[in-house]
Amino acid sequence: MHKDIKKILVSEEQIIERCKELGKEIDKDYADEAPILVGLLKGSVPFMAQLMKNITIDIEIDFMDVSSYAGTETTGDVKIVKDLDRSIKEKRILIVEDIVDTGITVAAVKDLLFQKGAKEVKIVSLLNKPERREKAVEAEYVGFTVPNEFVVGYGLDFNQKYRNLPFVGVLKEEMYQ
Ligand code: IMP
Ligand code: MG
Repeated sequence: MHKDIKKILVSEEQIIERCKELGKEIDKDYADEAPILVGLLKGSVPFMAQLMKNITIDIEIDFMDVSSYAGTETTGDVKIVKDLDRSIKEKRILIVEDIVDTGITVAAVKDLLFQKGAKEVKIVSLLNKPERREKAVEAEYVGFTVPNEFVVGYGLDFNQKYRNLPFVGVLKEEMYQ
């Protein structure tokens, strides 16, 4: 346990086990045509690495980095900081995200990927925080549902820190003050 963490919500062992289950589901659901996994930087990195090892069909991977336009977050507009390397025309896409919170990010990315010609876009997210949802969007595959608390670790950050923690935990309140 890290000194700034109040409690662990999801352990490394739980994540490893859940990724095995998700990998099996994805193998089965995409048996006829494999998807391109599109990881959203930077939060999805540890989850994507763990998940993809448990997928046995011939997937490809790519990454995107998006950020909300300052001041207009509620419109759902996102700016592409790093775009995909290749065309996704007529491809099946599986977005890999760390957490679906308000849903603004994945809803906007989903629209973007359809604009780029994807024929199907689904979402796999390590965490789901349904209490905060503003956009009507749901991940088809969810690792764990978490309560309305600010969580860090396993890719998730607070001011760019704690992404390297091997578990998902709740930060101590004093770290915000
Ligand atoms: P959205 O609100 O669903 O658009 O979430 C956008 C992004 O906010 C996520 O991809 C995370 O990077 C970040 N985020 C949301 N909730 C948390 C949290 O509890 N801890 C750390 N980052 C979060
Ligand atoms: Mg993120």
